[in-house]
Amino acid sequence: MDSRIIVALDFPDAESAQACAKLLSPQSCKLKVGKELFTAEGPAFVETLVRRGFDVFLDLKFHDIPNTVSRACSAAANLGVWMLNVHALGGAAMMQAARDALGQGDDRALLVAVTVLTSLSDSDLQQIGIQESAAQAALRLAALAQVSGADGVVCSAHEATSIRDRFGDAFLRVTPGIRLTDDSADENKPDENKPDDQKRIMTPSRAVQNGASYLVVGRPVTRASDPPAVLRRIEQELTETGDIH
Ligand code: C5P
Repeated sequence: MDSRIIVALDFPDAESAQACAKLLSPQSCKLKVGKELFTAEGPAFVETLVRRGFDVFLDLKFHDIPNTVSRACSAAANLGVWMLNVHALGGAAMMQAARDALGQGDDRALLVAVTVLTSLSDSDLQQIGIQESAAQAALRLAALAQVSGADGVVCSAHEATSIRDRFGDAFLRVTPGIRLTDDSADENKPDENKPDDQKRIMTPSRAVQNGASYLVVGRPVTRASDPPAVLRRIEQELTETGDIH
């Protein structure tokens, strides 16, 4: 089964990340390794996950001159990752160089672009010379990502519908900010549903109905007392709402 769920392994070291990953299987989810874990533990840890059969999303958001990004993407692809990302603000030439570095094979790594960081408000954008709203800038950068060969974008589930409608279903929408409904919470230890820093959240089924291709889920799984049980509940919720894949 090709799971739509990407568990964000946001841990400070390999030991704690491995303890969580050991509870999970490549059939039940994909895994995301971000800057914290990669900086602490490096490529060896990514290779460990790939060897276990996981699809790994290497979330390093490259943004540099095209030649440097191209070489970084080649190095990431050599680790056997399933997906990696760049900042669309790096420009068309940078995204094309990233895409070219991944080759043409059916099993090549997928390239997704970050449009506008969700931490940036409209006034933050004005400070860096972008006069559009964050939503307008995100759509413009998604268009640039598509013509530059990216396979999709990282976006809020709230934007997934408009991006799918405008750029087509094949252009992937990878959506963080996923939270479970109260009734699917782990009653024994409802830590995963406590309020946290995510503001524009959506449930798994709503996100998929809205057009999300893949759901990035961190703390609701990684802080649960029984992570596999939370994954099963999400899969069940998706199945019940007709998400057959
Ligand atoms: O724990 P939580 O489910 O909030 O984790 C979400 C993951 O998605 C984290 O790794 C976070 O860095 C990432 N992310 C996000 N919002 C974005 C882009 C990435 O939460 N706009």
